[in-house]
Amino acid sequence: MSSPQVFWNEVENYGQTLVKWNEHLPSLPEMATRHKQFCQVINAPFAAKAVADPRNITRLQQARNAMAHLWSSLNSRLEFIIAEDLSQTCQTYEDFQKATNSHWLFTSYADMLRCEQELYTSLGMDISKMKICNIGPGAMPQTCLSLRARGADITVVDLYGPACRWCETWFSRFFPQGGWKVIETGGQNIDFSEYDLIIVASMLEGRADVLRKVNETARGYVQVRSTSGIRPKSVLLSQIPEDDIKMLEDAEYVAETKPPLTVGTYSLMYKFNRQLS
Ligand SMILES: C[S@@+](CC[C@H](N)C(=O)[O-])C[C@H]1O[C@@H](n2cnc3c(N)ncnc32)[C@H](O)[C@@H]1O
Repeated sequence: MSSPQVFWNEVENYGQTLVKWNEHLPSLPEMATRHKQFCQVINAPFAAKAVADPRNITRLQQARNAMAHLWSSLNSRLEFIIAEDLSQTCQTYEDFQKATNSHWLFTSYADMLRCEQELYTSLGMDISKMKICNIGPGAMPQTCLSLRARGADITVVDLYGPACRWCETWFSRFFPQGGWKVIETGGQNIDFSEYDLIIVASMLEGRADVLRKVNETARGYVQVRSTSGIRPKSVLLSQIPEDDIKMLEDAEYVAETKPPLTVGTYSLMYKFNRQLS
């Protein structure tokens, strides 16, 4: 049976599973098996058809309201368990990249990063010469590690101490020569004027306040991660509200990434055309 109904049944089912997992976390192998089953369904053509149907907009929003916060908290917890796991085996960035590229939780992450690099190149951005700030990296900072590996000077900002400790662990292990900094605070407390590019994670608390501070202090590019209704995986992710985007009133929309529909997260790129004294 390969109809949009299969998609909605699976969304309903996986929603109930996420409720149980947030109450009691099963073993990693059990979660891996169940999540792969879910991804098989939502990566199928009928899933894209289901979410593309305008009659389903409300149903998609209801599913997202029920699942996105469950997935966000589960995702954060899993990142710490996986970080603990991978820290035993990953001595180099290449080890880390290989492990995460084949990991069941990060299946589409490499595709997302590839499309972001294509956007940077199309905008003439030379990452190796840029000062970049990543807000909300978590315990598995794949984005900013990949940018550091391409020569960028990296600052990560996370309000959660244990996440910062893991960032320090990975950066000091893979890039002992430096070129990185970890700041334990909310993004809303940062002066962004020194950065050429600011990357705003999709799962931020107080995102509007962070974007307001970006609008007050930034001078370069700001990349905002979000999801959209055409992406079946968006049932697990939070879409940036229009009101949050309006915070970037002094910035100009430049472009966005167009990853395959199997990727849940895409990025919107904005640019400030101002010199700060
Ligand atoms: C789900 S996690 C990691 C996100 C994921 N690694 C990614 O690439 O999008 C989100 C992280 O953002 C941090 N965070 C949430 N709100 C924040 C804020 N306002 N400022 C800084 N960090 C924040 C949380 O502590 C958490 O570690």
